[in-house]
Amino acid sequence: MNAMTADAADVRTQPAARAEPFFSVRDIHSYYGESYIVQGVSFEILEGEIVALLGRNGAGKTSTLRTIARTEVPELKRGEIWLAGNPLHSMKSHEAACSGVQLVPEDRRIISGLTVEENLILSQVAEPRGWELERIYEHFPRLAERRKQEAVTMSGGEQQMLAVARALARDLKLLLLDEPYEGLAPVIVQEIERIVAGVKELGITTIIVEQNAVAALKLADKAIILDMGQVVFDGTAREVLDNEELRHEYLAI
Ligand SMILES: Nc1ncnc2c1ncn2[C@@H]1O[C@H](COP(=O)(O)OP(=O)(O)O)[C@@H](O)[C@H]1O
Ligand SMILES: [Mg+2]
Repeated sequence: MNAMTADAADVRTQPAARAEPFFSVRDIHSYYGESYIVQGVSFEILEGEIVALLGRNGAGKTSTLRTIARTEVPELKRGEIWLAGNPLHSMKSHEAACSGVQLVPEDRRIISGLTVEENLILSQVAEPRGWELERIYEHFPRLAERRKQEAVTMSGGEQQMLAVARALARDLKLLLLDEPYEGLAPVIVQEIERIVAGVKELGITTIIVEQNAVAALKLADKAIILDMGQVVFDGTAREVLDNEELRHEYLAI
């Protein structure tokens, strides 16, 4: 589709009607109060790509994801974030969610006291909705088996599965996964990897933050390395795996 057709098809795309990447972050700066954390991060992602966002502890990975999802903190003070022609930078978190950004935070935010099914239904309360329950259960048979179980009593891997399923229950265009493998046994990590690969097959774009850089790079098309709130590398996953210096310096692998 050329820029002219995009213009004609949808006026909302007009401000970004140049040949735009699917997702772009342009010189974003964000703060926790006076603390200046995300310091001019820029990158672009094509639709359907998996991007591994890597870097040492405290590099600003979570803060970058939260800035993209437009959570209350950190506060975005400068820069632009565009998803499919929509300006996330001028949105609140619920509006970003309505535009298709779904953040699965490290703690997964599974709601205690609710069953698996109730957790799923809750994510469908607001429009626009994504997958129906039936489709979710077909895709995640384990969740179907456990639909009446209190969700927080499931294993870590099953809870991670539910967190991804909840994102699919919304209108999902950009999935933000913050350390999805954390605390999971290797065999369960493999299971979550298959789920992330499945999300890619659906054409959905994903940013995955992981301490387990090797596992994240295995799935990723592209890698971005952050250090002290700035991008120090932006290239292919292969380039990172082949660059020993880079791996030692920023990833300890
Ligand atoms: N709520 C917060 N208030 C103040 N500083 C924070 C807050 N959360 C994170 N930080 C700081 O921001 C920096 C980046 O943190 P974070 O984005 O969590 O890094 P990463 O996810 O890469 O480990 C760290 O120095 C951290 O101490
Ligand atoms: Mg983090």
